[in-house]
Amino acid sequence: MIDIHAHYDDNAFDSDRYELLEELFTSKGVKAIINAGCNLESSLQSVKLAEKFDGVYAAVGYHPQEVDLFNEKDFETIKALLSHPKVIAIGEIGLDYHWVSDNKEQQKALFRKQLELAVETDMPVIIHERDCVADCLEIVLDYNVRGVFHAFSGSKETAKILLDRGWYISFPGTVTFKNAKHPVENAVFVPEDRILTETDSPYLTAHPFRGKRNDSGYMRYTIEKIAELRGISFEELERITEDNAKRLFRL
Ligand code: NI
Repeated sequence: MIDIHAHYDDNAFDSDRYELLEELFTSKGVKAIINAGCNLESSLQSVKLAEKFDGVYAAVGYHPQEVDLFNEKDFETIKALLSHPKVIAIGEIGLDYHWVSDNKEQQKALFRKQLELAVETDMPVIIHERDCVADCLEIVLDYNVRGVFHAFSGSKETAKILLDRGWYISFPGTVTFKNAKHPVENAVFVPEDRILTETDSPYLTAHPFRGKRNDSGYMRYTIEKIAELRGISFEELERITEDNAKRLFRL
């Protein structure tokens, strides 16, 4: 399994981070993990984890909720990290109006800045979008970049617009939740060459472990559920999502 989105630099892993990652790679069927940065500090932590574990890759960038932490000097450091051999994407970047909506203009400017960087450097991007689909699409469609919408919870109509423009769509444990509507619809709708899976660890743990700290081992419940919805085997979907992750991120 390849987990295209996780946060092992999170405090939730302070007590057992290295032991857990070791275990995931040696006995839980995890082949690769992309650890996403949210600001300079977590981007640096992601790179550190990627240096320590063969199977960990890093994405670097500013999450929209971290917009207040942005400064040009740190951004130069983020840019420099892009030439590191284990840094394979810019992320997670995007817009979030759920938690913070009084800084929309700053969020949009930062989002554009990072998309421009992706164009310049030919790096894929990992997009975070929450409660702002129209604004997010308006910006994203201005750029000729490749990438993935992580933890996608949008409608089928939005998925179609993104797929038509070459985007990948990634599903976390939410697709296993009892009240999942859009994720279940989209898990069937997204074509074979664009579907990805993730955990967003330590969050969004799949049923029946919802609420517990997440790790990449629990992604098997997400793959199992989507495979069942698509009427294919676990192994088949595992292979499909691994191939897609390798192609998009050039792993
Ligand atoms: Ni995330």
